[in-house]
Amino acid sequence: MDQGKPTTIGVLTSGGDAPGMNSCIRAVVRTAASNGVRVIGILNGYDGLINGEFKALGARDVGGILQRGGTILQPRRSLAFQEPRGQREAIRRMNEAGIEGLVVIGGDGSLRGAQKLHEQGVRVVGVPASIDNDIWGTNMAIGVDTSMNTIMEAVDKLRDTASSHGRAFLVETMGRGSGYLAMMTGIVAGAEMVLLPEVPVRLDEVANAIEDAYRRGKSHAIIIVAEGASFRTTELASMLDDMDLGFQTRVTILGHIQRGGSPTAFDRLLAARLGHRAVEALLNGEYGYMVGLQGNEIALTPIKEVIEHQRPANLQYYKIARDLTR
Ligand code: ADP
Ligand code: F6P
Repeated sequence: MDQGKPTTIGVLTSGGDAPGMNSCIRAVVRTAASNGVRVIGILNGYDGLINGEFKALGARDVGGILQRGGTILQPRRSLAFQEPRGQREAIRRMNEAGIEGLVVIGGDGSLRGAQKLHEQGVRVVGVPASIDNDIWGTNMAIGVDTSMNTIMEAVDKLRDTASSHGRAFLVETMGRGSGYLAMMTGIVAGAEMVLLPEVPVRLDEVANAIEDAYRRGKSHAIIIVAEGASFRTTELASMLDDMDLGFQTRVTILGHIQRGGSPTAFDRLLAARLGHRAVEALLNGEYGYMVGLQGNEIALTPIKEVIEHQRPANLQYYKIARDLTR
């Protein structure tokens, strides 16, 4: 049965926040407003859907958030929603509030939740947002570029002090099981080595990289360690310090600083395009898809396909990172 175009849609952010989520909420609300569709913001992710934490969002309500990191809707992680009972309650609440379509902005887990709703008849479209860049079906997720810039600036600063004192720095980046952030920032920040979950290395290889940098007359060594790499960063540092490699070792765990800050132009543009296309998808009857960046175009991929695939690391970049350390 043709359900017709939705006249009221919901938008929620879920999982870890990512810079650019606000820009995307704004794009969703304003695209909907331009098409005469009402938007209800859902606070606290899927928990808010279950508890009916709803707030009408008009075009003026999303003024001034384009440039703000974080998300005005709070991206809570929800245990209750993982259970069928929680999902049923969420759907009941949506129906009660007249929400006829839903935009879910979040990472891989949030998209799994979106797929559960889709399978139960909810008209849903997903938007990838996670600094980890581990989502299938999009070259870039919202937040990745800003996060990379934050890491790059941090490493630039660490290099100053590393050079002054002749030290090796182990810089730990986020990314869960993905080495994307570490690999790419290794290139743009000129690291001597990157340690990724996708490429296991031995302790002696790390030690050699540091010793080699010392022997070649470098004033420092920067090793970027993805949080999912096979070594715990602090343990690795103490093992390296026990070897006589020329440089003393220091550790910097960048942590949640990587998730904050004003989104870059790239992330704002990506968020605008994806948010805009997500609403168009709901109006066109294209349900159960994730909008993503493929090449220079915005393309739709079934959410089912997105969550069934692991996004592989493109190890050509690993090779670039290695070859540029000479
Ligand atoms: P991200 O979206 O950043 O990957 P999480 O993995 O924490 O973050 O997922 C965010 C939320 O998505 C979870 O707290 C949960 O509410 C929902 N979710 C994740 N996996 C599932 C699933 N298999 N079924 C239903 N909901 C899920
Ligand atoms: O998924 C984003 C992310 O920042 C990961 O890189 C990291 O492993 C995780 O979230 C941290 O989660 P939390 O904010 O719950 O500590």
